[in-house]
Amino acid sequence: MSDIVIISGSSNAPLSYLLSKQLKVELMPAEIRKFPDNEKYVRIDGDVKDKNVVILQSMAFKPDEYLMEALLLSSAAKDAGAKSVTLAAAYFPYARQDERFKPGEPISVAVVAQLLTAAGVDNLVTVDVHRHRVIDFGSIFKGKWIDVSVMPDLVNYGKKAGLIDNDTFIVGPDSEALQWAKIAAESAGLKNYGALKKKRFGDTEVSVSGELNLKGKKVFIVDDIISTGSTIIEASKAVSEMGGKLVGVACAHGLFVNDALYKLYREGITDVFSSDTVPNQTTRVSSAEALSKGIIEILK
Ligand code: R5P
Repeated sequence: MSDIVIISGSSNAPLSYLLSKQLKVELMPAEIRKFPDNEKYVRIDGDVKDKNVVILQSMAFKPDEYLMEALLLSSAAKDAGAKSVTLAAAYFPYARQDERFKPGEPISVAVVAQLLTAAGVDNLVTVDVHRHRVIDFGSIFKGKWIDVSVMPDLVNYGKKAGLIDNDTFIVGPDSEALQWAKIAAESAGLKNYGALKKKRFGDTEVSVSGELNLKGKKVFIVDDIISTGSTIIEASKAVSEMGGKLVGVACAHGLFVNDALYKLYREGITDVFSSDTVPNQTTRVSSAEALSKGIIEILK
């Protein structure tokens, strides 16, 4: 589509570039900076009149700043006559506060969705967005929404790297991750997939158990996010207890906060990789192709 332009937020310029190449469309410059008092300033440096504007933003680590940039860019694009605004949210923030776990809390993910609409975002493309209690983002976001998956790309990389073969069992570490395990396994023509059970006691405390028949099997774990690494460490112990042999781990969004990666390595979990939604030292796969397909689909 020739009437698409990509505008990059400041979070992930390499992915914006790859996306513009994938879609063969212009990457329009934008000035993004802070005023001396730390407030954000944005200015789109080009003509977006009658264009389908795609804002690429990956809102990890500095979610408030990146969200604000996306809101301001969207509003600026609409004010300048854009035909539509699509937010390609490579990493969607606040998705894990999708319930009022304790009285007095907001449902943060719903607040973010409302803000997007208020700033003129018509369409939302997410990548393997965390969907635990809010399964359907269409229930909290007023515009069109498509979630694309990098699980097929991750598994494909795992196969090429010799970690996954036709007998490998793909496992998600909790019930929500069954969807990632299913996509991953089916895209590679693997029969065996399943999920473990996780209980969360705090930000870093989890327990994982399961009843899968993993005896003597090679096991590859997939999840949407690795943050502190606790989930993966406990899942790997559960896999061993069930007689499986962990051959690798992949996630869409590698946050690896603090020393998470070191913690994984210390547990002997060394074959870990992720996509470029949140660039990090384990990034092996780009989400540009998956995002481009979602963007083309949502603009049909
Ligand atoms: C939550 O349920 C997600 O799907 C991930 O399993 C979770 O965010 C991983 O977090 P951590 O690495 O801190 O255990």
